[in-house]
Amino acid sequence: MGKTYNVALLGGDGTGPEVLAEGVKVVNEAANKYGFKLNYVNYDFGAERYLRTKEALPDSAIEEFKKHDVMFLGAIGHPDVKPGILELGILLKIRFKLDQYINLRPVKLFPNVETPLKDKKPEDIDFVVIRENSGGIYTGIGGASMVGTQHETATQVMTYTRPIVDRCMKYAYDLTRKRNSKKKMLTLVHKCNVLTHCGDLWVRSHKEMGDRDYKDIKQDYNHVDATTMWFVKQPEFYDVIVTENLFGDIITDLAAIIQGGLGVAAGGNINPEGLSMFEPMGGSAPKYTGKNVINPIAAIMAGSLMLGNLGEEKAAKAVEDAVVAALQTGQLKSMAAGRMGMGTREIGDLVAGKVK
Ligand code: IPM
Ligand code: MN
Repeated sequence: MGKTYNVALLGGDGTGPEVLAEGVKVVNEAANKYGFKLNYVNYDFGAERYLRTKEALPDSAIEEFKKHDVMFLGAIGHPDVKPGILELGILLKIRFKLDQYINLRPVKLFPNVETPLKDKKPEDIDFVVIRENSGGIYTGIGGASMVGTQHETATQVMTYTRPIVDRCMKYAYDLTRKRNSKKKMLTLVHKCNVLTHCGDLWVRSHKEMGDRDYKDIKQDYNHVDATTMWFVKQPEFYDVIVTENLFGDIITDLAAIIQGGLGVAAGGNINPEGLSMFEPMGGSAPKYTGKNVINPIAAIMAGSLMLGNLGEEKAAKAVEDAVVAALQTGQLKSMAAGRMGMGTREIGDLVAGKVK
């Protein structure tokens, strides 16, 4: 018998638990096949518990999570809770407290998945966005005064330090090397023509580290606004993109739609030296809760990323291959919730069957 990994499961809100269940189903199949075991502990953090206890996520939970090898998340967010409370109180608290400083978002068009870029093929859309996940505007530095008056003033400051930029840059360069695509290119996305201070910091980190340690990797730079156009016009240009937190948030939603939408897009919140968390990129879609109509492919692909993070590369690849094989059957009519021609559980069964 191989290793046992302890997994903290956070189903969260809305359809989160349903898609996560399918992710678990498929990764368990891969674990059986490759001779390791996954031990799960369920946590019920989310809107319901918050409304009951008035606490989103106690500090003690963070300590609990640390006893696990990895975390697997469904979705957070509910219409009965004011926007920001669960997002900051659960998701961002986990990311910050566990220093999950990399947000990894592979952008890949699978076969039989419709993209708005009609003439693009799976080989044209296959890149990875490394979003810095611990700094920038998300740190919340700033404040407001004279709120509610005519002179109300608010600031929210983009904050970065050299070490925070460098550790992200190193991860991005290493991944570019490991990915070993023909392009071998790391594109820095920023807005250095306007954000001269933060932009300059990122530009120098990118250039100096690349010139020093990664001479085999091509260096490239795009402004963030131009990037949104290139994603649509020429996605095949990209290999790996590295960018700061808010720009990364925005461009990965666009990236998600060109790969077929939130039904397929998965991501990881990674602490390369610690505990990481994997999640489908879609939200909790409360109106679909319990209807068996949400696409679990994103959660299954998050499961694949999770297995890779545990070092089970073969199992991770088997899950991704199973997703491709399931899509190749042509049984899914669409990637969109309710229009798939199959239920959430049935898609999970189909993919799990392909892992076997
Ligand atoms: C994401 C989400 C989060 C973010 C929200 C829910 C806080 O949009 O993971 O991309 O902005 O990072
Ligand atoms: Mn986002």
